[in-house]
Amino acid sequence: MEPRILCCANQKGGVGKTTTTLALAHVLARRGHEVLVIDLDPNAHATSMLLPRETKPKATAIDLLFGRSGDPVVKTADPKIHLVPGSASLCEFESRYSREPHRALFLDKVLPKLVRGKPWEYVLIDTPSTVGALQYNSVTASDLVIVPVVPEFLALNGFNNLLVSLRAVRERLKKNVKYFVLFTMARPDLDSQKRILEWADAKIKDIHFATHIAWDARFLEASASAMNIIDQFPDSDGALAYDALWAEIERVLAA
Ligand SMILES: Nc1ncnc2c1ncn2[C@@H]1O[C@H](COP(=O)(O)OP(=O)(O)OP(=O)(O)O)[C@@H](O)[C@H]1O
Ligand SMILES: [Mg+2]
Repeated sequence: MEPRILCCANQKGGVGKTTTTLALAHVLARRGHEVLVIDLDPNAHATSMLLPRETKPKATAIDLLFGRSGDPVVKTADPKIHLVPGSASLCEFESRYSREPHRALFLDKVLPKLVRGKPWEYVLIDTPSTVGALQYNSVTASDLVIVPVVPEFLALNGFNNLLVSLRAVRERLKKNVKYFVLFTMARPDLDSQKRILEWADAKIKDIHFATHIAWDARFLEASASAMNIIDQFPDSDGALAYDALWAEIERVLAA
């Protein structure tokens, strides 16, 4: 069966894209699913969380995009999670196609070959916080785009820009990419955030997940020790929230 493809995208940095990609990968692994993570961020944060520092992959995501020979998939410490590592050379792709990202839609074409005959049920793509060819490739290849947003006024501005990119994909490719906002690092005890969450419930109810990921210092602790909260603190609110999020995502994918 064809795997379902999801990406986390938002041009605002530090909103929880990588954390969400990895948390969902570990939630899926715990549920017994086989997952492929593709790190399309030149900063390669997901890669540094999943691979030991000394690992030097022979092929990485740039080789996948350019269709070069060599298998870009590597094993991780979790037998259910495989990875196409990111690397700084992805910058090469971004700068080459930044003016005309629609000419660089390669991921959509190389993915079917990569996943053919493989056990992955889900592909999760982590993206950089820039509007450009890498984000455009990820969104175009995905069945569902998860848009992590911190419920702050300025963060919602960036979200509007992303909607413009998503509409461009829809119009240019006639492809109906589903997208859902995920509120991350939420602090509903703050009045300013509470108002935004209430606004979202009233105005964009059909495009945001009911599950919010609350701000929790354990995310910082886990990432500082290159661990993930799902395995390190499985009973924490954060781990349970990502598990609840997956249940919602399954319903969205089935709809
Ligand atoms: N719910 C949370 N509560 C507290 N801290 C969090 C939470 N989610 C993520 N973080 C922390 O916030 C920081 C930024 O998160 P993350 O790296 O996932 O964001 P990003 O959108 O991928 O950033 P970038 O744009 O740099 O790739 C990290 O240190 C992470 O551990
Ligand atoms: Mg990131």
